[in-house]
Amino acid sequence: MEPNLQRRIQRYGWDRAAAYYESSWQWQLRPAQDLMLQMAALQPGERVIEIACGTGLVSFRMAETVGKSGFILATDISEKMLNIARQVGYQKNIDQVQFSRMEAESLDVPEGSFNLAACALGLMYVPRPIKALQELHRALLPGGRAVAAVWGQRDQCGWAEIFEIVDKRVSSEVCPMFFNLGNKDMLKRSFEAAGFKNIRMERLLTQLAYATAAEACAAAFEGGPVALAYFKFEEWVKEEVKKEYLHSIKVFQEGEGYLVPGEFVIASGYK
Ligand SMILES: C[S@@+](CC[C@H](N)C(=O)[O-])C[C@H]1O[C@@H](n2cnc3c(N)ncnc32)[C@H](O)[C@@H]1O
Repeated sequence: MEPNLQRRIQRYGWDRAAAYYESSWQWQLRPAQDLMLQMAALQPGERVIEIACGTGLVSFRMAETVGKSGFILATDISEKMLNIARQVGYQKNIDQVQFSRMEAESLDVPEGSFNLAACALGLMYVPRPIKALQELHRALLPGGRAVAAVWGQRDQCGWAEIFEIVDKRVSSEVCPMFFNLGNKDMLKRSFEAAGFKNIRMERLLTQLAYATAAEACAAAFEGGPVALAYFKFEEWVKEEVKKEYLHSIKVFQEGEGYLVPGEFVIASGYK
């Protein structure tokens, strides 16, 4: 897919998903975010650059650790995701985080100015993830470190059918290389290609718990990567895709709800 088209799909797709994002994904992504933050070993007073920060779920946690003497520049391609983050920052009076709209592959920051670079569950959406990692490498001080979490292998993610179910009803693929970084040592090799050293990689198998079928469908279609296409569907198509998705996760049904497997890969590396 042409990179600019992918960026537009991402930008306006996440604008569309923004209002539903936290209720859909906040707790499901938490294990991967926890392990990523643990690997980041952030210290008070440090300066952080974050890409694909979304509504700031990780940014605010990092802000707490760096404290008032530290600084987080949290960036994302979607203005609507950032607006939610800004509102939270304002309400909680957290001023060591600045939210700014930037595309991950071209960061408007000076070279060598951050201790840590971070990206939680964002690199899969970026057209050229190695370019984004190179940008993070450039932004880091010598000896600075980077951490990133992505979804794991497709066959370990029980919800993966959402892409096919939506793609076959629209003319372009929603996110063509989504599971690429989750394969074998792809994330490690991307870190290496961007210049990082001493790379550590972890795999984490979790379960995405949904109390009802409606909850599972809302997370899949409204608050995530296929929202742009989904909200344009006629009502009958929406019903059809939800039925198809529930059929695809039927093996994970537990009573009224679902326990869907999900795998994450988390890497860290040094400049
Ligand atoms: C699943 S959300 C993750 C948000 C946050 N990091 C978290 O852990 O909750 C993915 C985010 O990636 C952003 N994104 C997608 N493509 C991007 C790009 N090319 N550059 C920057 N951000 C991008 C989306 O706007 C969205 O906010």
